This record gives sequence, C-alpha cells and structure tokens, in this order.
Amino acid sequence: MCGIMGYVGSEPAVDIVLAGLKRLEYRGYDSAGLGIVDDGRLAICKTPGRVKALADDVAKCWAPELRQRALAGIGHTRWATHGAPTRENAHPHLDAKGRLCLVHNGIIENFQALRARLEQEGHSFLSQTDTEVLAHLIGEFYEGDLLRAVCAALKHVEGAFGIAVLAAGKPDEIVVARRGSPIVLGLCETGALVASDAAAIMSLTRNLVYLEDHDVAVVHPGGIDVRSVDNVPVSRPVTVADWDTTAAEKGGYAHFMLKEIFEQPEALTNTLRGRLDPREGTAVLGGLDMTPREINEISRLVLLACGTSLHACQVAAYAFEELADLPVCVEQAAEFRYRNPIVRSTDLVVAVSQSGETADTLAAVREAQRKGARVASICNVVGSSIARESGRGVYLHAGPEIGVASTKAFTCQVLALSMMALKFGRCRRLTREQGLACCQAYEALPGVVRQVLEQHEAVRAIAGEIARANHVFYIGRGTLHPAAMEGALKLKEISYIHAEGYQAAELKHGPIALLQPDVPVVALANDPRSLDKTLGNMQECRARQAPVYAVVAAGETAANAVATRVLEVPRQPPLLASIPAAIVVQLLAYYAALARGCEIDQPRNLAKSVTVE
Ligand code: G6P
Repeated sequence: MCGIMGYVGSEPAVDIVLAGLKRLEYRGYDSAGLGIVDDGRLAICKTPGRVKALADDVAKCWAPELRQRALAGIGHTRWATHGAPTRENAHPHLDAKGRLCLVHNGIIENFQALRARLEQEGHSFLSQTDTEVLAHLIGEFYEGDLLRAVCAALKHVEGAFGIAVLAAGKPDEIVVARRGSPIVLGLCETGALVASDAAAIMSLTRNLVYLEDHDVAVVHPGGIDVRSVDNVPVSRPVTVADWDTTAAEKGGYAHFMLKEIFEQPEALTNTLRGRLDPREGTAVLGGLDMTPREINEISRLVLLACGTSLHACQVAAYAFEELADLPVCVEQAAEFRYRNPIVRSTDLVVAVSQSGETADTLAAVREAQRKGARVASICNVVGSSIARESGRGVYLHAGPEIGVASTKAFTCQVLALSMMALKFGRCRRLTREQGLACCQAYEALPGVVRQVLEQHEAVRAIAGEIARANHVFYIGRGTLHPAAMEGALKLKEISYIHAEGYQAAELKHGPIALLQPDVPVVALANDPRSLDKTLGNMQECRARQAPVYAVVAAGETAANAVATRVLEVPRQPPLLASIPAAIVVQLLAYYAALARGCEIDQPRNLAKSVTVE
C-alpha cells in the first residue's frame, strides 16, 4: 500500500526518486520522505502530506549542489499503519547510529517484542513505527557489509515486508528484500532502479526483475545481484513490461477515475481480445491450463476476493450456477484463511484481484494451496504475486488502474469471470447455440458501455441531488444486488457520503426505518425479470417520502410513475445487467464527489493496493 522508489547511478538521484514517488502516490499518500547518500553521509528529508510537499521541502532544505551531487537515494510515500502520518513516523528511518536508513512496505508483526528488547539494550526510538525498529535491528548487525546485516536482521522478523536500505558509506548500493510485499528492480541507461510497483520506473526501463519472497538483492549502478536470505545467489528472470506508460497518465481527463470510467469500452475489448471462439460458442482461456475433463470434474467453485473484486465475484456466481451448473461459494478473502475452511481436491479456488497484491487474498490463496485445492486467479497486474503464486489464470489486460476507486477492473472482472463460466458451461451442459448467444452478448458489451457513457450528463444531474444527502441506499435484485453494493461502496469511497447496498426485498427487514425525504434510494432495476418486484420495493420507499432514482432497461416505462427520476440503459441478458448498472453507479459516485469538492483519485484513508492484512 505504501510506495517505495530508489535509484543508484550516474545521475542526480533526488529528481528521479521524487518523480517515481509521484507515480506511486496512488498507493499511499499521507506522508513522504527521501534519503540520499552524500559524501559518505546520509541526508533525510520527510514531510507529512503529499509528494509535492516533500519536493517543496527538499528544495527548501537541501542546497542545489547537494541535490545535484547525491547519486543514490531511496524514497517512500506512506499509508499509515503504525503511528499517525507525521514527519517522525514518515520513512526513511535511521538506525541508532545513523549509519543506515530504511524504507518499508508491509507490517513487522513482532515489532513490539523487538522494540522492547532493543529498548532494554539502550535503544531509544523517535517514532511509533515498526519500520524504525527494523532499521535499528539491521543497524545492530551492521559492520560494513550491508547485505549481511539485512539478512541477519530479517531472520528475527515476522510479518510482511518489502524494504530498501541505504548506508552512509555506500554511495553505490541499495540493498532490498522482499517477503510478502512486492519489490521490482530494473536497469536503465544511467543506473539501477528499485520500486514497489513497476509503474514507478517504467518510463526509465522496460526490463524488470521481480523479487520472490525471501529474496534479498544488492543493487549497483551496473547490476543486480539477487540472493536468498541465506546469502546464496539465485537467478530471477527479466520480464519485459508491455504497458504503455501513457496509459498511466490522465490523457486530458480531470481525474484518473473519470479516465478509467470512460476507457471501459476499450478495456473490455482488451479483456475479450482473442478469447471467444465464435464457431464453437465457447471461450478460449489458455492461461487456465485445464482440460475439459478436469473442468468437468470440478465439484465446487470457491471465489476469493476483497472490496470491489468481491462484488465482481458475487455477480459472477450467478453465471457459474446458471451456465456451468456449478455450486459456487463466494468468500471474503480475509475470512477464508482464519476459519479453517473446508476445501476438497475437486474444488477450484479462483482468487480475483485487480492489483494481484492484496495481502488477504494472497494469504487465502496460500491457505487454499496448503489444503490441496487447485487454485487459479484473475488479476489485472501482470506478474503480480497472486498471479504468479496461483500459477494459472486469466489476465484482465485492462491497463493500469490508478484511481483508488476501482472502476474498469470491476467490469472487466465480471467479463473475465463470465467467459470462464461460459467455458466451464460448454464443458458441462451448455449447447453450442447457448454458448454462441453468450459470445454475442459478451462481444456487444463494449458498445453497451459506450451507450451508457453517452448519458453521463443525465447521471450528473442525479448526482447533484445525491451529493446533498448524508445517507443513500442502493437496492437491486439478482446480479443487481452486488451491483448495488458496489454502487454504495463507490459513493462511500470518494464522496464520503454514508451509503448502503441492499437486496431490494431486504430493505423492509429493518433499514426501511431510516428512509425519509432526505435519504435517497438508487434502485437498480434494469433486469426485466425482476422489475415488477423491484417496482414494489420502490413503492415502499416512495411511501416513506424517500426520493427514488431508478435505472431500468430501455423501453420499460412502468418505473416512470413510481420513481423521482428514471434512467434507461441498454437492455441486457440478466447475467450481464450489472455492467450498465455499474457504469451508472460509478458516474454517480464520481459526479457526487466532484460536486462535494472531494479528492477523487486519492480519497482519505484509502489505498489502491492493500498489502497488509
Ligand atoms: C482496496 C482498494 C479497492 C479494491 C480492494 C481489492 O481496498 O481500495 O478498490 O477493490 O483493495 O483490491 P484488489 O487489487 O485485490 O482487487
């Protein structure tokens, strides 16, 4: 969730590290810091707030000559876990003698015990962080060989981390280590780069080396030396990144979130590309690496995810049941690991994660593997931990998602899971004709989304009314129930309006008590199969004077008499009705947040990639 960036080479490190941190800011942004080696000494600059504030402080505190001279630096943008987002708690942290500094992502779980022991030995700490304890611990082992000290210290550490360490007398090396939190390395023309996320360094190099868990590495201007934590050399392949760096820029949109909402037709096209077989009416998902017989033998599907990805799984559960005749269990990844789940060898566990780094989902994948399940994944970030550890799966190819509120990943996840349901269905009970109908519906989705996006002004008008509320309900039935939960999540995340997503009929079992004229209800009712029933629920809301904003399938006029406002979206098969509904709720949240003047791409307290449990 925090971001790490480092550089060692022949160019001034300060600007390169600051530029990388800026690109990582979406991962965490409550405080930031930078450490450099200059003339055998460490210089540290830290600030509460954004990377821009750090850059201003650096310009104020460090003379231009110093900024030009320092050729090695590490930086960090933080999402607070231990201790408030203050200057003291920001990274880098120094060891007791000020000989080395450290930036860290993740959580050191036994930091309190380590801290108590070090305090008994005379150490005193300036911050509340687990990171400072690790810096002191490495300092205890440091006698001139930084790699050795890091390896020795890590033997005492429990928890998850990605770290980068810089030492005063070592202007030409950065030592990094990974356990559970990603670290990627790269060589560029002028030196070597270190980052927690490829997006930080891809404008400088495309040749990336991903560390595995328990790897440590020494990064020099001319090379990368990867070792195991026992200091035995290991070889890690060079991956050539294929993302276009301009895809990680705003391209004229006011916010990444808006850009990502509007690029969904293209993202869906990329998820579809080459994956439908129009002759056999099935999907081609080579990365799944399962024979028809193996697919036929699956007795249950377990879908694991968090946040928005969890909602995509809840939508897709309907498709697996209906198309593939498969019992499906959708699990919050954070619960799965801790409740001793029952897993059979004939279960297929599918982990769904945009980032591929969510700690709870990764931990759940490992637990499923320990219990002998076959595991696959659906990720967006190529080479991410969940994608690599699951070993088989489907990439979304949706392009980088930078806005903290996930948008295009959701629709692409629903599509990827739907294609998986089609493939499984064709191996089990679907006819070719039924399969062809699915293919046609999937292929039409980019155009459907385009049509909904054309109505953004109409959605904006409704958002203006919602923006004045303090509480909002979203309701839906079938696949539109998880879509309603996603709508409520989007609104909470970026506009800070309290919102809840409910199955439409459930509303009357309690929450209806909260309805009154200033509590709007967004009714997702664009599945004609359940429209009548949802209309009844809308009536119940209107009877309590709550304004009702209804989303219905084109041509359905019955809602006009009931709802305060009605928005028509293209008619879809029920299993895909969540896609146009998702576009509406994303736009609603975006425009409501805009009307309230919120920080849309970097909402308070959130992080794009949650790499702590
Ligand atoms: C965070 C993000 C959410 C995201 C969730 C799961 O909470 O803010 O937008 O849905 O993590 O992330 P994943 O990368 O696993 O899909």
